[in-house]
Amino acid sequence: MDELRERTNPVFNTAKATLLQLAQAGHADAAMMAEKLGLDLAGMTYNDDQKKAMGQSNVATLELRYRSMNAFIQATGAKTVVDLPCGYTPRALEDFIADKHYIACDLPAVAEEMGPLVDKILAERGQKRDVAYHGVDATNYASLRAALEGAQGPLCITTEGLLMYFTDPELAALLDNIRRILEEFGGVWITQDPEVSRVYMSMTIVVMNDLAKAKATVDALDGSADMGAVLKAMAGDKAQSTLNASKKTFSGEADVKFGNVMLVKGAPEQLAAAMDTLRAHGLKAELTPVAQRMPKLGSLDGERTELARQAMEHISLWTITTDGDAVPLADAGGDTFGVSIKARGGVMDVALRGRVDSLTAPEFLAAYEKAAGAMDLTDVHVDMSALAYISSAGLRVLLMMIKAVQPGHVALSGVNDTVRDILAQTGYADMVTVK
Ligand SMILES: C[S@@+](CC[C@H](N)C(=O)[O-])C[C@H]1O[C@@H](n2cnc3c(N)ncnc32)[C@H](O)[C@@H]1O
Repeated sequence: MDELRERTNPVFNTAKATLLQLAQAGHADAAMMAEKLGLDLAGMTYNDDQKKAMGQSNVATLELRYRSMNAFIQATGAKTVVDLPCGYTPRALEDFIADKHYIACDLPAVAEEMGPLVDKILAERGQKRDVAYHGVDATNYASLRAALEGAQGPLCITTEGLLMYFTDPELAALLDNIRRILEEFGGVWITQDPEVSRVYMSMTIVVMNDLAKAKATVDALDGSADMGAVLKAMAGDKAQSTLNASKKTFSGEADVKFGNVMLVKGAPEQLAAAMDTLRAHGLKAELTPVAQRMPKLGSLDGERTELARQAMEHISLWTITTDGDAVPLADAGGDTFGVSIKARGGVMDVALRGRVDSLTAPEFLAAYEKAAGAMDLTDVHVDMSALAYISSAGLRVLLMMIKAVQPGHVALSGVNDTVRDILAQTGYADMVTVK
């Protein structure tokens, strides 16, 4: 099952890097958890100078994000924290969580590994905490609502390291789900994700250069600075190309395309488009400089921490709430998943029902591989007339089908408008015949 999950959604492995980076920044619980998970800290050290510097700036970025998010969570005063996605971070063990209800949500593979580990650590420490891990797909409302059963609002929903993996249709599903949850429980959703590339680039500026140069560059930053251009002008093409290469490796490994309408690099029109998208989903955002909750950093010395703080004057935490004037949402619906597959000679007839997402795609993959293994596959017909939604995890299975046959031999029928948009926006419409 784990192998099927990993093949339909490889993104969850990236979350282990945060734990290792926090460990490198000197976070004792992160180091302890990394050891218990059998992760290799030594594997994160580089010989090449440029890679080493990039490694340092990644550690500083992740540490800054994690620790400042902790401070912002505390500042909301909410007693219930919904960490979506929780990944492998040690948040459940932080002191400030002790008097809170901590609802940690991530894909099932992560929740099933983290839940027992955190329970074991708390038991070893003789600590009792209101902490629970839940397997969810953030685009799947029913799974999120199940994780929140019995929760007391107002909530602080916290998101770090999720939005950049989502396609626009997945983002739209997430925004509707967040809105439904905030409308029911009250509270806020906080995230730095929209400005993720600005955070990485400004930390690269802070860490990768001699202090005088870094200071001069940070002094010249403003809220709409195109960090990519600043970085290039300051450090030359090499720094920019390393950054691009690391981004490519990351997105290549995860087999996802980066980029959706909520990701803001600096241009005012991007910010406006992100705000419009929130508004269209009945949400609104208030922006607070991350510098307002600048934590102490183990990965940087005092002078560089101060520089990072100055850079964070230009980067925002987004506090997102419901917009009272918005048009009410339609019912989320049940959309129970189902797949049936029949073989006719070399033709595979697939019928999909409900939602294919990270939770259900492994079952879809297993059914497909079982059927394909027993036939000489030439054509695939997928009946989508009862399919409500398909996420990247489901599209990966579709891609395996596309690769298994000659070009043009995968045909889809009964495609609804939502799925048609998803296929168009992800480029899949060009790889299949849509009847
Ligand atoms: C880069 S990690 C961030 C995790 C953590 N907040 C951190 O800072 O390390 C991305 C996380 O998103 C989770 N994820 C990816 N797609 C998801 C989805 N559709 N629903 C819920 N979690 C998802 C992955 O499993 C992974 O743990």
